[in-house]
Amino acid sequence: MSKDLDILADETYWRMRIFDSLSYPSVIISPDKTLMGANKKFYETLNLSFKEIFGKKCYDTFLDKNTPCNSNRCAISKVIKNKKSHSFILKHHYRWEERVFSPIFDENNEVVYIIASIRDITRTKSLEGQLHGVKEFISRVIHSSASAIVAADRQGNINLMNSVAKEMFGDYNGGKGKLKHTEQLYPPGKAKEIMRMLRDENVGGMGKLLIPRTTIVNAHGEKIEVEMSAAIIYDDKGNESATMAIYNDLRDKIKVEKELKMTQEQLAQSEKMASLGQLSAGVAHEINNPLTGVLFYASLLLERSDIDESMKEDLGYILEDANRCKEIVKSLLVYSRSTGAKKNIVQLNDIVKQSLNLIRDQQKFRNIKIIKDFSDEMMLIHADSSKLNQVLINLVINAADAMDGVGTITLTTYKEKSTGKISLEIKDTGKGIPHENLSKIFDPFFTTKEVGKSTGLGLSIVYGLIEEHGSKIFVKKTDSQGTTFVVEFPMYVASEKIPFLCNS
Ligand SMILES: Nc1ncnc2c1ncn2[C@@H]1O[C@H](COP(=O)(O)OP(=O)(O)O)[C@@H](O)[C@H]1O
Ligand SMILES: [Mg+2]
Repeated sequence: MSKDLDILADETYWRMRIFDSLSYPSVIISPDKTLMGANKKFYETLNLSFKEIFGKKCYDTFLDKNTPCNSNRCAISKVIKNKKSHSFILKHHYRWEERVFSPIFDENNEVVYIIASIRDITRTKSLEGQLHGVKEFISRVIHSSASAIVAADRQGNINLMNSVAKEMFGDYNGGKGKLKHTEQLYPPGKAKEIMRMLRDENVGGMGKLLIPRTTIVNAHGEKIEVEMSAAIIYDDKGNESATMAIYNDLRDKIKVEKELKMTQEQLAQSEKMASLGQLSAGVAHEINNPLTGVLFYASLLLERSDIDESMKEDLGYILEDANRCKEIVKSLLVYSRSTGAKKNIVQLNDIVKQSLNLIRDQQKFRNIKIIKDFSDEMMLIHADSSKLNQVLINLVINAADAMDGVGTITLTTYKEKSTGKISLEIKDTGKGIPHENLSKIFDPFFTTKEVGKSTGLGLSIVYGLIEEHGSKIFVKKTDSQGTTFVVEFPMYVASEKIPFLCNS
């Protein structure tokens, strides 16, 4: 018997030791909320003694109340009712604590006591706070980035788009919109190719990829040129866990580059025309004098009676060709702007009609239909009408030549108030201008027509005249269906006048 008692004492002793060794302050409470005892850590932490708590009610000791708490809120009542642990977290003087209430059962599985422990979770809470802060920060960095960022899981399901990406791709809506999978962000087959390149060690390194220019497709089917960098995200063990891509919209950059290239080309063209203009003016003057001599002496010879008929015929050819040269010299002088312009305020539609009247009876236009598609608005420009006639006639004759005398020429005029431009389009149904000739057609003496029939000066003269008017000429479209030339004039705007105050 005494041996049994010894064992029991031993057992009780060890249980007490274990209870006292617990690092959490713990207190034993009976179902009627009476405090039965606590471990050493409890007395130390709360600076209480056994005598101060034994037999006291928990609400009296800890809450300074005479009556128990509402059973709906009382953790002890919950443990008794549910026969299982219950815990809650509270902040206590800058410390975060988890209060854990666990049941102690008797042989009949009834709750006889409740052990309540206090666990200090301040450090865990602080780490949790830091983690939350880091997450928030990363999220803010991603969402405030000027680049579009998209992340997807291993299967390619999109799980993140920052605001720039949402705007660029459209209709993502957290996966509830049209866009759900990375394959939808590219032209067919492209997503797979990108994944293949991402995993290729020789393309930007394993798991990394930089494509300076590629095409993406947004939810509206619009193709957008972008610069793209992509990466595979690996977990701690080196397994692929996600992918991400950063896109920069290149549309504005491409537009600026195009405009710059056009401006450079236009500048180069104007410079070329200006130097050629000076050169032509010099050559024209130099040729003019000897040519006048040739014409004069040839005419004198032709009038002589002692010359036989066959020589007269030859002299006729000399005169004809010399006259032709004179015409060319005259054209060169016009091209080199050696004659000044007389500008007036004119109606573009009237000038076009006038020019057409000048040529309409020519044999060349017999089988050509001319359509006048004129704007009803006033199309006032500041121009020299005779020079504009020259421009028009040149362009219309070229159009007729390109159609071998059969087809339709459409002349359209229109006004663009927003840009202050008045335009004239000359569209033909001719054979078009081969791409390689486009940069040469405004050059003097460039012609594809039969030698001796054409001088190749027409468009270069037109170019010079158009420049004199502060206007622009360019080929809007050309292919096997025909060519459209556009001449753009600045709209004439009357300067504001001071109102006339006198009625008389
Ligand atoms: N409407 C057009 N359609 C096709 N080619 C054209 C057209 N206008 C001009 N061209 C091309 O531009 C060249 C230069 O024209 P231009 O300077 O007027 O000289 P020319 O008419 O004497 O050949 C033409 O020979 C032709 O090849
Ligand atoms: Mg011509």
